[in-house]
Amino acid sequence: MKHTKRGPVVAIDGPAGTGKSSVTKRLCQALKYVHVDTGALYRVVALSCLEKRVFLRQITEDPKSRVFSPEIEKIISDLSRELHIEFKQDLSRNPSNRVILNGEDVSDRIRTAEVSMASSAVSAVSGVRASLLGLQRKLGCAGHAILEGRDIGTVIFPDADVKFFMTASVEERAKRRLSELEASGADTPSYESLLRQIAERDRSDSTRQLAPLKKADDAIEIETTKLSLDEVVAKMEKIIREKVGSA
Ligand code: DC
Repeated sequence: MKHTKRGPVVAIDGPAGTGKSSVTKRLCQALKYVHVDTGALYRVVALSCLEKRVFLRQITEDPKSRVFSPEIEKIISDLSRELHIEFKQDLSRNPSNRVILNGEDVSDRIRTAEVSMASSAVSAVSGVRASLLGLQRKLGCAGHAILEGRDIGTVIFPDADVKFFMTASVEERAKRRLSELEASGADTPSYESLLRQIAERDRSDSTRQLAPLKKADDAIEIETTKLSLDEVVAKMEKIIREKVGSA
């Protein structure tokens, strides 16, 4: 289906743990834009696969062995086409951007380490990327939207009005993730294991054949290792306002 943009679209790409979600949330509050967390879509597909079958167990335990047979790829692709995914804003909850799968709120269940690794694996399946493409374009085309992900500026919205590519050292990203988990009261893995998981996801997200993680030629790179969240938000908000203004 052909979609036409009805307002400005901002693309924010970058590897896991660079702060895309926190930054996007703050920018959306300041500019009154809609937040589209595209990673959540791949996470929902991964969650469904994990819940329905056991075939993803092996790759979440040993991510390097993640080669799906054509039959399994077909099952995953078919499953991804059947899912009905929606985003709902609920300011009384944290996170407030709730993810609804077939009518059920799965926002918390898609954030486990197991789902993180599995989402990276299913995101390399072409049928999955194809099924999620239309929804991402539809959500973005409504306009005044910020989409965060890996291939927004390169594949989903090559004509985005503003494109950012966020980076940070892998050590800094593991440190941030650790503090986040500690603050949420969740079971906390060691710093070393987080570092390994993030490095592994970087590797698989940027080396896959389809829509790999990479900076679009016209994206503005934001290196965040030594910047606070406030500093990053201020810098990006200024750029967006200069280029397209607020809603
Ligand atoms: O942003 P995230 O960590 O929630 O994303 C989970 C996985 O989904 C990530 O490892 C790669 C994949 N992904 C993708 O391939 N393309 C996107 N636009 C967003 C996420």
